Amino acid sequence: MLKGRRILIGVSGGIAAYKVCEVVSSLAKAGADVKVIVTDAAGEFVTPLTFATLSRHPAFTDKDFWQANNGRPLHIQLGEWAEVFVIAPLTANTLAKLAGGFADNLLTNTVLASNCPILLAPAMNTDMWEQPAVAGNWREVLTYRRYHAANPGAGMLACDRAGVGRMAEPGEILAHIESLLHTKGDRDLAGKRVLISAGGTREHLDPVRFIGNPSSGKMGIALAQAALHRGATVTLVHSITGELALSGVRTIALTSAEEMRQEMLQCFPDADLTVMAAAVADVKPTDYHSQKLPKRSLPNSLPLTPVADILAELGKLKQPHQKIIGFAAQTGDIVKPALEKLRSKKLDVIVANPIDKIGAGFGSDTNQAILINAAGKQVEIAPCSKLEMAHRLFDFVMEG
Ligand code: CTP
Repeated sequence: MLKGRRILIGVSGGIAAYKVCEVVSSLAKAGADVKVIVTDAAGEFVTPLTFATLSRHPAFTDKDFWQANNGRPLHIQLGEWAEVFVIAPLTANTLAKLAGGFADNLLTNTVLASNCPILLAPAMNTDMWEQPAVAGNWREVLTYRRYHAANPGAGMLACDRAGVGRMAEPGEILAHIESLLHTKGDRDLAGKRVLISAGGTREHLDPVRFIGNPSSGKMGIALAQAALHRGATVTLVHSITGELALSGVRTIALTSAEEMRQEMLQCFPDADLTVMAAAVADVKPTDYHSQKLPKRSLPNSLPLTPVADILAELGKLKQPHQKIIGFAAQTGDIVKPALEKLRSKKLDVIVANPIDKIGAGFGSDTNQAILINAAGKQVEIAPCSKLEMAHRLFDFVMEG
């Protein structure tokens, strides 16, 4: 998704500039063509040399802007060159300039001299972020189609305050860049409410022992990111145990299949599109012990009870305006059992997932699949990142 793609990074002056080094480094390592503009204030935090070294290109400053370069003006060249422009961190000052259309340095002139999508990643102290003037400028810029938000998260800030204003994590920014390269900034899910389930449920025997599966939830996270970046309002119902950085997504954490069933039934009526990517247990221990069982009391065989099939229940409740997508984790022949699941659970689309292939399925960063819709149309997706798989799936669903 990133190889050879032209990405322009504008760094304005905030402490989060140090995190942008990781973004630039990751992009360059993935084979992207990365150029960086460093404002004077940003240069006080991280030197242009750092960005130049990480990006394998000269990093541009206002000194370059004011220098005759015997060619076309620098801001025009950079503006025409970029496929995606990222401003990270976005300070209150640069935000105000964007809202007002001001152009008093290389960064803001390049904004006006470009037409590509621009990803904005604000970072500032909570009081600054909540000032009516700053909040107003943020609302204002987001009314312009070319600006996309990498919303700030909440957490401990460099000013020793805990609150909103922390720049989106480098991983979130990288995913958003990949999304914008795929969509070219199109928001085809704007106005749609997307409900996604992710992770493997755990069915406990006692507080420490459970029946589970190796699902990492990465496919569900990629789906949530892709839907968010395409303009949807996203709810992620999940049983992911690791840290989850997903600014802008409503997340509901839980453990068991029954808890997931309750949440999915609660959220489903409001959803236009539901994607059931969770690996839900099929059975649970018949008895639950609220205290840890001593080893000597563990049974030799474990009585099991089936758990409800959430997707099949949602399929029965589906209204004409709603679409449901399921996953079929298969080994061996993947199409026939996936088609049976599509029909029996009344789905619109199923993702037939060969989990026995290297680089596909549980825990992997990549995936491969055959997408099948209710009309029988099939599209094979070769191994790719889970984010790309998520976009290819939404493309398939939106094409009908
Ligand atoms: N699913 C569900 N509730 C369950 C089991 C599965 O909602 N209790 C959903 C999964 O999230 C997935 C789809 O049903 O979207 C298919 O899941 P899969 O495990 O492949 O198939 P099963 O229907 O469980 O059938 P089998 O295990 O026999 O292959």
